[in-house]
Amino acid sequence: MDQLKYIEEPDMFHDIFGHIPLLILPEYSDFIQAYAKMALKYTHNEKATALLQRLYWFTVEFGLIYQAGKAKIYGAGIISSPQESRFSVSDASKKIPFDIDVIFNNPFRKDDIQNEYYVIDQLSDLADCIPTVEQHLQNLIQKGLGDVKPVR
Ligand SMILES: [Fe+2]
Repeated sequence: MDQLKYIEEPDMFHDIFGHIPLLILPEYSDFIQAYAKMALKYTHNEKATALLQRLYWFTVEFGLIYQAGKAKIYGAGIISSPQESRFSVSDASKKIPFDIDVIFNNPFRKDDIQNEYYVIDQLSDLADCIPTVEQHLQNLIQKGLGDVKPVR
């Protein structure tokens, strides 16, 4: 129990209870698979990788989902932190509708509880966003990405 703290590596609780259970859901595993395929295409591009880190961070690690009008946790980074689990779904947290443009423009923080959470309406929103993400990356690469750092 004394190891159930925020991001201590290696964190078996985080991996086993946070990441693995959702993989049984096709809507979720489809996203993970599509994300991985896309990420492999951009491993040579540091800036695109930084943007993909933001997407991963604000979904797989710190995502929320609406169920019956209430925000629920699906992000492994949230679920493996008792403090963040309570905070993220409370009225005190800032909840933003899931939006690729907003996520791509928002560096994340690794050192503390998140300032905001992006909320999907259903798990299929994740896999459905992949073509949009790919298009955004292509557009940004054509324009030049500028400086992109994944973390604040
Ligand atoms: Fe994780």
